[in-house]
Amino acid sequence: MRIKTDPNRPIGVFDSGLGGLTVVKELFRQLPKESVVYFGDTARVPYGTKSPEAIIRFSQENVTILKQYQVKMIVIACNTSSSFALPALRQQFDLPVVGVIGPGAKKAVQVTRNGRIGVIATAATINSGQYAKTIKKLQPSIKVFGQKCPLFVPLIEEGWTGKEVSRQIAQEYLRPFKKARIDTLILGCTHYPLLKPVLRQVMGEGVMLVDSAQSVVEEVKELLQNTNCARQSQSPPARRFLVSDEPRHFHRLAKRFLGFPMKNVKRCYV
Ligand code: DGL
Repeated sequence: MRIKTDPNRPIGVFDSGLGGLTVVKELFRQLPKESVVYFGDTARVPYGTKSPEAIIRFSQENVTILKQYQVKMIVIACNTSSSFALPALRQQFDLPVVGVIGPGAKKAVQVTRNGRIGVIATAATINSGQYAKTIKKLQPSIKVFGQKCPLFVPLIEEGWTGKEVSRQIAQEYLRPFKKARIDTLILGCTHYPLLKPVLRQVMGEGVMLVDSAQSVVEEVKELLQNTNCARQSQSPPARRFLVSDEPRHFHRLAKRFLGFPMKNVKRCYV
């Protein structure tokens, strides 16, 4: 992948809503000098229940918005969008586009010891079979077990990750993984890192949790290094946040995802 533009331009990141902020948090941690423009499609969230056609169209529109900010590359900080829209975006736009599925799958293949990997994600991501396909391509002998977890996103958005109800729901969803004896669990939705303590408690210390937010940023870092496109400017990086619906709700929840309050949230119509 080549980046032909000015390295000082920002990295464009989008998600269906707030979940992608777990990727932004990682970007800030691993690449603190980079400028970032984030677009959360809060007016059309969730994508996890939508058709592939709608997910692809929304994703194309999101990149069109980010391109107005002269971004040097795109990070799809949404597993659902990465599952369906990555080839279309790469074909349509003259920019490097990185999704979360490939890096998450690669990491899981590296860390599994018994070759039994579980994936939790939205219904659309599980139905796409993208994680299983990508893992099988890397290592055909690995067994992949998928589980849709539609109640996790609303629980996280309600801020109920510490409540007993979250533990009970996680226990129900994860039960089949115990029987399947997985040793690695991919958090295949960018919301799920907020549930890590509960998932760890239910699955036990013996199961590795693979956070696709962390893995995708490792890939972005590598890409910027290999293409000499890391930001060089010494001025403080710009950090912008755009949403397609009323920013108030976003402000309140964003603190939970990022760990600190954010400024500069702008409404942007799709
Ligand atoms: N952020 C989305 C993902 O990573 C989940 C939320 C949604 O359904 O839009 O799949």
